[in-house]
Amino acid sequence: MFVSSGLRSLRGASVFSSSMFTRFAIALLLLSLLAHWLLIQFPESPFHSTSTWKPLFPQLARRKSFFSTSSSSYYSHNNYSNSTNANGSEVSSSPLNYKTFVAYQPKDRDDQIYKNLKDSLMSPTGEDNFFIASIDSNDVYAGVADGVGGWAERNYDSSAISRELCRAMDQLATATLVSSKNQKYSDVISPKDLMDVAFEKIQNDKIVEVGGTTSIVAHFQKNGTLNVANLGDSWCGVFRNYKLVFQTKFQTVGFNAPYQLSIIPKHLLEEARLKGTSYIRNTPADVDEYSFQLSQNDIVILATDGVTDNISTDDISLFLKDNSEKLSTSKELNAMTKDFVSKVVNLSKDPDYPSVFSQEYSRLTGRLYKGGKEDDITVVLVKVE
Ligand SMILES: *[C@@H]1O[C@H](CO)[C@@H](O)[C@H](O)[C@H]1NC(C)=O
Ligand SMILES: *[C@@H]1O[C@H](CO)[C@@H](O)[C@H](O)[C@H]1NC(C)=O
Ligand SMILES: *[C@@H]1O[C@H](CO)[C@@H](O)[C@H](O)[C@H]1NC(C)=O
Ligand SMILES: *[C@@H]1O[C@H](CO)[C@@H](O)[C@H](O)[C@H]1NC(C)=O
Ligand SMILES: *[C@@H]1O[C@H](CO)[C@@H](O)[C@H](O)[C@H]1NC(C)=O
Ligand SMILES: *[C@@H]1O[C@H](CO)[C@@H](O)[C@H](O)[C@H]1NC(C)=O
Repeated sequence: MFVSSGLRSLRGASVFSSSMFTRFAIALLLLSLLAHWLLIQFPESPFHSTSTWKPLFPQLARRKSFFSTSSSSYYSHNNYSNSTNANGSEVSSSPLNYKTFVAYQPKDRDDQIYKNLKDSLMSPTGEDNFFIASIDSNDVYAGVADGVGGWAERNYDSSAISRELCRAMDQLATATLVSSKNQKYSDVISPKDLMDVAFEKIQNDKIVEVGGTTSIVAHFQKNGTLNVANLGDSWCGVFRNYKLVFQTKFQTVGFNAPYQLSIIPKHLLEEARLKGTSYIRNTPADVDEYSFQLSQNDIVILATDGVTDNISTDDISLFLKDNSEKLSTSKELNAMTKDFVSKVVNLSKDPDYPSVFSQEYSRLTGRLYKGGKEDDITVVLVKVE
């Protein structure tokens, strides 16, 4: 089931030649890759249990402030992360290397909506999630995803879909990189195809009962080309000498209503149809794709809307400039990434702060609103060296 859908999704991919023979060869390679991924790489099959991540950080879930510095998120158990970066120390001889840093903070979840969900919705990143997959610091996949909170109001675990999507993307990307390194499979998988295959996977596995999520995926390639696929209102920006030189566009259907990949059972779809409403249901075919050539010392940021609803890209430029003396060592960059998220969190709690969100809300309603928007905040920062 999954294998055939994976093949279907790859067939339209631009990176692959369209000739029948090539398709067949790719299909064979992909089959062996997937077999490797599903059967050999992960014998304990984390895909089949939503609870495998829970015992890892039970004590963190309820802490209001937790920042991760690890090279992979809590669900990720692959053994290939040591060259990634934990503090980004490994530098190879090839021209560009990528050091990755992560910081996040979930919003407070003390309100009634989450009362019945405390146990299931205890991901340390809230409804946000991320992944970083890499076996060499010159070839890295990373992404963030933001689960739509509305489902929590109906007693569903609104964090499940972004968690499972990131888990699947992490494992597929890692398997691809491993196979590529072993020269079993020399092609790259594009961010769009990664999202597509992973989304098919979690749909077929039926782990996620219901949910919607944004997703942005970046591939930092060996030759310095950054490829990005974006669905929804997460964001990727590249800063060069503190100036924004590239950014993705938000995809929304309306204010605070991003494009989203969604899993919605038939009975809910039918219920909505009878009420004359519908859900936002996008597919990976709706992504915007980007390609950008990176240079040494570029800073690339992937962020959920907890960041971009609050601060402008000019603010990020200023922040990087203010921290210009902290952009060299991994330790400094790590601390700076945390500091960045901490600042955003503080602003988001400030009732007088004229956040981007409040300004837009004021514009739309004609009434003055101020204050930040409290949300989960997740940032993956990549320094190009
Ligand atoms: C991978 O890591 C897990 C947990 O860290 C460990 O139990 C396992 O033995 C490792 N596998 C290999 C092949 O190193
Ligand atoms: C991880 O680090 C160990 C020790 O430094 C090294 O032996 C091993 O080859 C590394 N693994 C990878 C996949 O680079
Ligand atoms: C990462 O940083 C820690 C403490 O700063 C250090 O002990 C460790 O050796 C570093 N790891 C690498 C791979 O540089
Ligand atoms: C980098 O490699 C990719 C293929 O992996 C290719 O599509 C892209 O054009 C290359 N970029 C440059 C600048 O050569
Ligand atoms: C955020 O606010 C807390 C508490 O007011 C403060 O301790 C912390 O330094 C602030 N963080 C930043 C980066 O300003
Ligand atoms: C982000 O915006 C939200 C809403 O606009 C606000 O509550 C939050 O404080 C802001 N966060 C930051 C860091 O500015």
